[in-house]
Amino acid sequence: MRLILVGPPGAGKGTQAVHLAAHYKIPHISTGDIFRANLKNGTELGKKAQGFMDRGELVPDSVTNEMVKDRLENSDVANGFLLDGFPRNTNQAQVLDSILADKKMPLDAVLELSIDNSEIIKRLSGRRTCQNCAATFHNDFEKPKQAGVCDKCGGQLYHREDDKEEVISRRLEIYAEQTKPIITYYKKTGLLKNISAIGDVSDITIKAISALK
Ligand code: AP5
Ligand code: MG
Ligand code: ZN
Repeated sequence: MRLILVGPPGAGKGTQAVHLAAHYKIPHISTGDIFRANLKNGTELGKKAQGFMDRGELVPDSVTNEMVKDRLENSDVANGFLLDGFPRNTNQAQVLDSILADKKMPLDAVLELSIDNSEIIKRLSGRRTCQNCAATFHNDFEKPKQAGVCDKCGGQLYHREDDKEEVISRRLEIYAEQTKPIITYYKKTGLLKNISAIGDVSDITIKAISALK
């Protein structure tokens, strides 16, 4: 299964990706997680990305495309992959097409998660992310067993810098302007499936798997 998850910030891409990656036994590749790991480790890539991420804007394509190209060189993608947060504009979608064409690894599906803005704001303002393993929790919807501590690894949970209200609105604008057009792009290829991202996490996973059959 070679799959892309697309949807606005807070739609639950990362949440669903964990379950779908386990179901299909494929690696979960989140460009946001890769950038955040680089920020945390103070790498050159992290330094290049930080300002854009803090403002809720896209990191330049030259940086992002190169990073994904490198990631797709890893042998773990031989049996498929799940891309979460990439591509995010038409240029990235075209670059991905050409990388996958070279590797003779065509995409199987693009799954769009739909959700309205009021729900997004609730999800992002209550989200807590593990500093260590990137797992996500929610203050109301998916509480960790112990407040502030990751159930999976014991790491410390934090509120993402770009989950502040002003930055959330900028991310939503960028989604509408730059990412929405890739929905049309993939519709034309016949690969696009859409499901509603409202409801229980496990029900959404079931809907996703059935849409992908
Ligand atoms: P990225 O990390 O990709 O952020 P995003 O797209 O804004 O998406 P989020 O991670 O905020 O949301 P999500 O859909 O994963 O939701 P989640 O599952 O966590 O990107 C961050 C930044 O990196 C970008 O702004 C950009 O600067 C840069 N970047 C990344 N990729 C790039 C690219 N390709 N090009 C250029 N720049 C790039 O869920 C949200 C919350 O809701 C959680 O708390 C969760 O517990 C809760 N939740 C989930 N599902 C449910 C449910 N069904 N019911 C109730 N609560 C739920
Ligand atoms: Mg995410
Ligand atoms: Zn953790």
